[in-house]
Amino acid sequence: RDQECVGGKMNPFAEQEAWEDYQIGKAMLKYGSKNKRQISDDDYQFVFEDQIDFIKTSVVDGYNTDNEEVSKLLEKSKAKSALERLQEERKSLPIYSYRDELLQAIQDYQVVVIVGETGSGKTTQIPQYLHEAGYTKRGKIGCTQPRRVAAMSVAARVSHEMGVKLGHEVGYSIRFEDCTSEKTVLKYMTDGMLLREFLAEPDLESYSVLMVDETHERTLSTDILFGLVKDVARSRPDLKLLISSATLDAEKFSDFFDSAPIFSFPGRRYPIEINHTKAPEADYLDAAIFTVLNIHVKEEPGDILVFLTGQEEIETVEENLKHRTKGLGTKIAELIICPIYANLPIELQSKIFEPTPEGARKVVLATNIAETSLTIDGIKYVIDPGFCKMKSYNPRTGMESLLVAPISKASANQRKGRAGRTGPGKCFRLYTVCSYNDLEDNSTPEIKRTNLANVVLILKSLGIHDLLKFDFMDSPTPEALMEALELLFSLNALNERGELTTLGRRMAEFPLDPMLSKAIVASDKYKCSDEMISIAAMLSVGNSIFYRPKDKQVHADNARMNFHSGNVGDHIALLNVYNSWKETGYSTQWCYENYVQVRSMKRARDIRDQLEGLLERVGIELTSNANDLESIKKAITSGFFPHSARLQTNGSYRTVKPPQAAHIHPSSGLAQVLPRWVLYHELVLTTKAYMRQVTELKREWLVDIAPHWYQLKDAEDSGTKKKSRGEMKRL
Ligand code: CDP
Ligand code: MG
Repeated sequence: RDQECVGGKMNPFAEQEAWEDYQIGKAMLKYGSKNKRQISDDDYQFVFEDQIDFIKTSVVDGYNTDNEEVSKLLEKSKAKSALERLQEERKSLPIYSYRDELLQAIQDYQVVVIVGETGSGKTTQIPQYLHEAGYTKRGKIGCTQPRRVAAMSVAARVSHEMGVKLGHEVGYSIRFEDCTSEKTVLKYMTDGMLLREFLAEPDLESYSVLMVDETHERTLSTDILFGLVKDVARSRPDLKLLISSATLDAEKFSDFFDSAPIFSFPGRRYPIEINHTKAPEADYLDAAIFTVLNIHVKEEPGDILVFLTGQEEIETVEENLKHRTKGLGTKIAELIICPIYANLPIELQSKIFEPTPEGARKVVLATNIAETSLTIDGIKYVIDPGFCKMKSYNPRTGMESLLVAPISKASANQRKGRAGRTGPGKCFRLYTVCSYNDLEDNSTPEIKRTNLANVVLILKSLGIHDLLKFDFMDSPTPEALMEALELLFSLNALNERGELTTLGRRMAEFPLDPMLSKAIVASDKYKCSDEMISIAAMLSVGNSIFYRPKDKQVHADNARMNFHSGNVGDHIALLNVYNSWKETGYSTQWCYENYVQVRSMKRARDIRDQLEGLLERVGIELTSNANDLESIKKAITSGFFPHSARLQTNGSYRTVKPPQAAHIHPSSGLAQVLPRWVLYHELVLTTKAYMRQVTELKREWLVDIAPHWYQLKDAEDSGTKKKSRGEMKRL
């Protein structure tokens, strides 16, 4: 019973041993591997004081405090202290002062447009406020995000703030990954996922509030959602609709939603010094690296955020910075390099939010995602090269290109703003003042520069026949709409009156590009659905299956070519990779040995599982026809016949319809083989028009599989186009 004092603190334990265990627990907690940086002495103080009574009574009651118990207690109290801290942080966000007013506005109006600076708490707080105010008693609160990474990381943050496990009360849903449960009341999701939810639940009955967030991004799915939610809100007066954005041109949103009130609140803004370069930079990556190092060596503490255009650039800069900081010696502080882009696994994403340890500096290398969708605290310096990757689509050529393009003034200002959130900051623009003045005010909404086949299929499935009359905020070009209708018609997803066919309805079940969905549905006929969904899953992972370390390129290339033996083409090669991995029992070691990214493979496996579930839903039996490569290729052709090309005498290719020059991408297994006829998964314009994922094709297949699209004459003479416009006019 006697309590002694150890190190000035009271020993609550009856046994010296238990006290020592407690100390060990404390040390473990403090120096424990992962949390090392997050737990400060203050935290520990809190653990100690908060728990002391509880431990004391336990001991007095003869409670056996063995080591495990003590650590459990410590864990519990640690969680509690972190929670309290988070609650304080919540209260310090700019939006907190407007909590009650905002809730009142939402109560008074069905639709509210909300405008607030990035980082002021819109995404993380508003759904929680509504939950606290009881809205979740009537249904879920859904919040859409244009980006996958944002949906995941925001959901993770909110689950922390609420002290619940991610996927329970707070969850997220992105394509091929549903991290929600029966319990989920706050659901963060990509805008594309909500669009698909309309198919299953046209009036979104399970929701009491929908927050269409980050609307200033004007993604295609968000734009389509505008029309759909506006319609649902009319028939469901109980549904609350919030349209939130970071920029100030909210009138456009308000006008669209029948003059909905605009609730705008000020953010926290510190002065930001802007530096432009005097002359244009020849190489913005070099300039960015130089600027990072310059800031690191010369400027006072504070983290750096660099905007780059994609994963590749980020990896290049990361490697380069690692290399160059190695030689800096101990006099210069540590530079912690944190990349963030869409394909980065979630465990690595959290690294950017970890507080920077004392004496070090963090540099975040990010894509556009850090412009408005993610807020990283502690950024004092922003480096803005002035570019982003912009998707654009030419309906006349059917070619999608992902080109590095100059950003808009609105983007430049958002980027700058990231530097002044927690204190005064500096923004280094790697372009001149003149170049800034030449930038467009806003970027073009995606609906005006993308392939619409996917959304047209969804809208048709929702029973929206007359697309020209759909309530668009900004209408797509008639050409792009026509192109999408024509493609769906040629895939037999629509009939000649423009109505959805049974085939089209089945295709719409798959959250995939219509051509890929068609290939899957067609695989039923060729008895190879098993193989086709593996290929579709591998294609959906993107171009991140193989990796090629700089020092082992020859080995990596050899390993990759093993899957191509017999010049089977890239689609079958992907199937070979998947099946070989499966045969090893999904071995990680096998992936290392073959220069295959284990993470991508795991994702492919998840996607494949889901596609298998969908097969059952549309009534397609899982059948394997592994040795009949021709049948598999025919199934692919059923979906991808509009993507065929023919070899020219000069070694380049010419696509059939519409005719244009194209090249096999150097990463393809067929890049050296050059078959007479090929079909490709995608045509991407970079330095040239490149066909990615290419398979050899027999000319007759085109005529057999798509007689309405190709006539023999077309296939022989790639210059003529069958006149289908006349029929299409009626659509
Ligand atoms: O949506 P908005 O840009 O207005 O702000 P938010 O995303 O709700 O972020 C509010 C605050 O939450 C940020 O300032 C961050 O401090 C924090 N946050 C975080 O720590 N981790 C995240 N994944 C998201 C937000
Ligand atoms: Mg937000």
